[in-house]
Amino acid sequence: MKDVKDKLRQNRLLTLTGTGGAGKSRLSLQAGADLIDDFANGVWFVELAAVSDPEFLTAAIINALGIKEEPKKTPEETLTDHLKDKEILIIPITASI
Ligand SMILES: Nc1ncnc2c1ncn2[C@@H]1O[C@H](COP(=O)(O)OP(=O)(O)OP(=O)(O)O)[C@@H](O)[C@H]1O
Ligand SMILES: [Mg+2]
Repeated sequence: MKDVKDKLRQNRLLTLTGTGGAGKSRLSLQAGADLIDDFANGVWFVELAAVSDPEFLTAAIINALGIKEEPKKTPEETLTDHLKDKEILIIPITASI
């Protein structure tokens, strides 16, 4: 827990790897809950189990964050515009918790 939280405070991207059932989802849930006050705009979990095509990844994140899509912008622009001034932790989860 300490290692994960320290690394998340110092890095913009952290990947947890491990065999199925090792505890990646549980660890990330607890780390996210503990870090909620460290990120001004919160900690968000994004369920990606239903996303089978990378093309829909951005839309899944936009939906999870509750961002309104803007017709004149691509989903990528909508997302990056929303995130650029935010202090936010996004945790993708790929199985039901
Ligand atoms: N530290 C722990 N102590 C006790 N039980 C744990 C711990 N971490 C996880 N578990 C339990 O082990 C099971 C598997 O954990 P989890 O779903 O987090 O694994 P995972 O690595 O995300 O698996 P998958 O690769 O299938 O997504 C769950 O029932 C979870 O509650
Ligand atoms: Mg998991």
